[in-house]
Amino acid sequence: MLITIPDLLTPEELAYMRQILEGTSWVDGRTTAGDQAVKVKNNLQVPQDSPEARELGNIVLRALGRNATYSSAVLPAQILPPMFNRYDEGMTFGAHVDGSIRVVPGTGQRIRTDVSTTVFLTPPEDYDGGELIVHDTYGQHSVKLPAGHAVIYPATSLHSVTPVTRGSRWGSFFWAQSMVRDDWRRHMLYDLDMSIMRIRSMLPDDDPAVTGLTAHYHNMIRHWAET
Ligand code: NI
Repeated sequence: MLITIPDLLTPEELAYMRQILEGTSWVDGRTTAGDQAVKVKNNLQVPQDSPEARELGNIVLRALGRNATYSSAVLPAQILPPMFNRYDEGMTFGAHVDGSIRVVPGTGQRIRTDVSTTVFLTPPEDYDGGELIVHDTYGQHSVKLPAGHAVIYPATSLHSVTPVTRGSRWGSFFWAQSMVRDDWRRHMLYDLDMSIMRIRSMLPDDDPAVTGLTAHYHNMIRHWAET
């Protein structure tokens, strides 16, 4: 399930983040890639342990915290610190699957990567190429969103970033471990939650249809969630 989150970041947050990223140093993105990905990865990243990465990462985490779509679609148990990358002209990331377990820097805590997120930080008109391609059972999806928008997709998916042929594409990317590890179950819970929101806009909150479906939603979470 691939879900777009419009306006995850406010224009002010976006402008501030771009300003900090303008002045930061970037390193070869291969430093955080696994054995297979390292051979197809060609981009730049802000060092994970830099103060800039931490400050900007916290802005992204705050934005996620106020976003109902992210919470409903991901049901996050843990979110890894957001990272930041850029693809300048000629840079690309070939087809790969993200590592299944990642260690939280500085803590040694292991997190299972269930859901991947990309936040677009550059307006699409500022670069050519640089599409995120996500492969799933329904085929290939090409994603290129306005700055401040995000896309989430199952971390089990094969994905790639097409070569940038003009300009520079900046983004934030990170993973979450979900309370519900199975993508199909998360999808069903998300669809149900969206339907409950629609029905709540049509019926009073104490209508038996609303209370019944809401109870069913919570009981499914109770049944499936690992916290
Ligand atoms: Ni990846």
